[in-house]
Amino acid sequence: MDKVKTLAIIKPDAVRSKTAGKIFNMIENSGLTIEAVKMVRLTRELAGEFYAVHKGKPFYEELLNFMSSGPCIAIALSGENAITRWRELMGATNPENAAEGTIRKLYATNVQHNACHGSDAPETARQEVSFFFTGMDLI
Ligand code: CMP
Repeated sequence: MDKVKTLAIIKPDAVRSKTAGKIFNMIENSGLTIEAVKMVRLTRELAGEFYAVHKGKPFYEELLNFMSSGPCIAIALSGENAITRWRELMGATNPENAAEGTIRKLYATNVQHNACHGSDAPETARQEVSFFFTGMDLI
């Protein structure tokens, strides 16, 4: 059986502030395995496709502006309970509610510019990993 994978994104705010290295360091220290990495600049259209589940929400249009505002880094992670472990490492969506020591507590600016993304469940993880990576990209 395949190892459980999840999709992580280092968002444009964290790439711009040169925080990506620190986030990679936290990923490696956590014991999660980096399976594939890709730096991309999403078009507004692709960002809309990726975040289609949020269409119609008040923050949706701004989210697309933000996610297409510069390069981001997509990372496929694996490990036991990878989805939950990456979400714990990121901390709550809103950095005001994020636990001490989490990525968002340390590096996010606000609920929108929140440094990173992580899949929320096995089915979305499968979809989100294959949004960015083909089988050939994955080790
Ligand atoms: P993410 O975990 O990538 O999932 C959806 C994103 O929408 C979220 O991180 C934030 O960047 C953004 N988001 C979620 N809730 C809000 C909100 N209340 N206001 C603004 N942006 C939000």
